[in-house]
Amino acid sequence: MSLSLPDKNRTPTIVILDFGSQYSELIARRVRETQVYSLVMNYGISAKELSQISPKGIILSGGPKSVYESHAPLCDPKIWELGIPILGVCYGMQLMVQQLGGRVIPATGKAEYGKAPLTVDDPTALLTNVDNDSTMWMSHGDSVENLPKDFVRLAHTTNTSTAAIGSHERRLYGVQFHPEVVHSDQGMVLIRNFIYHICSCEPDWTTNTFIEEAIKQVQDQVGQKKVLLALSGGVDSSTLAFLLHQAIGDQLTCMFIDQGFMRKGEPEFLMEFFDKKFHINVEYINARERFVSKLKGVIDPEEKRKIIGTEFIRVFEEESLRLGPFDYLAQGTLYPDVIESSGTNIDPKTGERIAVKIKSHHNVGGLPKDLQFKLVEPLRRLFKDEVRKVGKSLGLPDEIVRRHPFPGPGLAIRILGEVSHEKLNCLRDADLIVREEINKAGLYNDIWQAFAVLLPVRSVGVMGDQRTYAWPIVVRCVSSEDGMTADWSRLPYDILELISNRIVNEVQGVNRVVLDITSKPPGTIEWE
Ligand code: XMP
Repeated sequence: MSLSLPDKNRTPTIVILDFGSQYSELIARRVRETQVYSLVMNYGISAKELSQISPKGIILSGGPKSVYESHAPLCDPKIWELGIPILGVCYGMQLMVQQLGGRVIPATGKAEYGKAPLTVDDPTALLTNVDNDSTMWMSHGDSVENLPKDFVRLAHTTNTSTAAIGSHERRLYGVQFHPEVVHSDQGMVLIRNFIYHICSCEPDWTTNTFIEEAIKQVQDQVGQKKVLLALSGGVDSSTLAFLLHQAIGDQLTCMFIDQGFMRKGEPEFLMEFFDKKFHINVEYINARERFVSKLKGVIDPEEKRKIIGTEFIRVFEEESLRLGPFDYLAQGTLYPDVIESSGTNIDPKTGERIAVKIKSHHNVGGLPKDLQFKLVEPLRRLFKDEVRKVGKSLGLPDEIVRRHPFPGPGLAIRILGEVSHEKLNCLRDADLIVREEINKAGLYNDIWQAFAVLLPVRSVGVMGDQRTYAWPIVVRCVSSEDGMTADWSRLPYDILELISNRIVNEVQGVNRVVLDITSKPPGTIEWE
């Protein structure tokens, strides 16, 4: 048996078995919000493996299949006999019903999607303090016809006669709705009831315990050896740098490769902050000329990304040989990368977990064979919001912890078409104005990304008595939860006016400012 746990020293207190729901990861995050460590695992895990992990509770996720279909993912039936409390959510509840001898049927004419008020029939255990008529989020086309032996109904809705069920004696519970989504008003009350009252978990997953454990783990793993980290200034690599510096001090070397595509003032801030202020050993590599010249004549966005990625690896390779040798490479792999790289955990034929792969971020993905490092990945147990908390707790300023996502290829993909020093300087100035005004207006933390894009066309304008013929700048501001979908931000007109005035007055080479009001989909957040 080889379980791909992100940390062999800490096993999960709550295991989420993933049956292919889009919300499995969200369930894990919700559990962690209650300060209890949880991991998402493949539904095919055996009862024996689970008993070795010995979690205090198991949550079965929802899933796209119906339990009565052929090839529907089933769990090892022995898990019902482990004596560990189990909560089935949607598909998970239906599976519980079917595998324990009840019956699930298509909810003909009674499928339920969206918000539904819950009528509580048994306000104890799982539903303690869940109000009658509180709204829960439903999304199901099947329903439970017969309950298994020893089970009782705990709640219902107008369309669903069994919205929550349970066997108090066996500590097995099921809910037809999704307590993990924000639309379920008191979903967290229910999740807390399960975790604290039914599973008797302790709130021991905190930022401080994580930091202590991670530092010790890194020290044990690395010993006296040397570690290299590619620092970009983003929240992941910055948090990693602080954590590793606390763990191994000068054994850590950070390499900051300046490709020339960063925003105004960023390289200077990075060196000032990490190297001068916190005495973290950072090697600044000025590769601006090299990168910009490689992009000469290149207009295709994917071609740009490929060239930048390849060049990055070349520089990284040359410089690590020059500065090294190093034994370890530190990577800011996060828990969602670990889950994603096991192929969303679902292989309906074999139910096998696939070994966790190295994060293929363009920055250090695809290193040549002769430059092999062992990996140090202390953040691989964390979700992004947890990384921010760890970073903050280690002393990183809000400027880094709350920083908007910034693409690896940077401004090179915010200049449409060919990149040049002239355009980069122009975009840097415009981008700074957008960020400054958003910040001054106190809107920075409400926005997912706010930036400027330079279009390689010229339009006519007039300044004073002069006719101008210059580039337009696009202002792109979006709100989003995860970057997968996004909506354009409704910025107040007076802020837009300030941004526009400042850009045309202060930025050389620009005479027009336009606003992007496209959501994603159908648009994307970036323009390339
Ligand atoms: P799109 O433009 O696809 O972007 O809606 C979604 C999110 O991904 C970021 N992005 C990138 N990040 N390398 C990165 O590291 C890239 O090549 C890249 N392209 C887009 C984008 O900023 C947004 O947050």
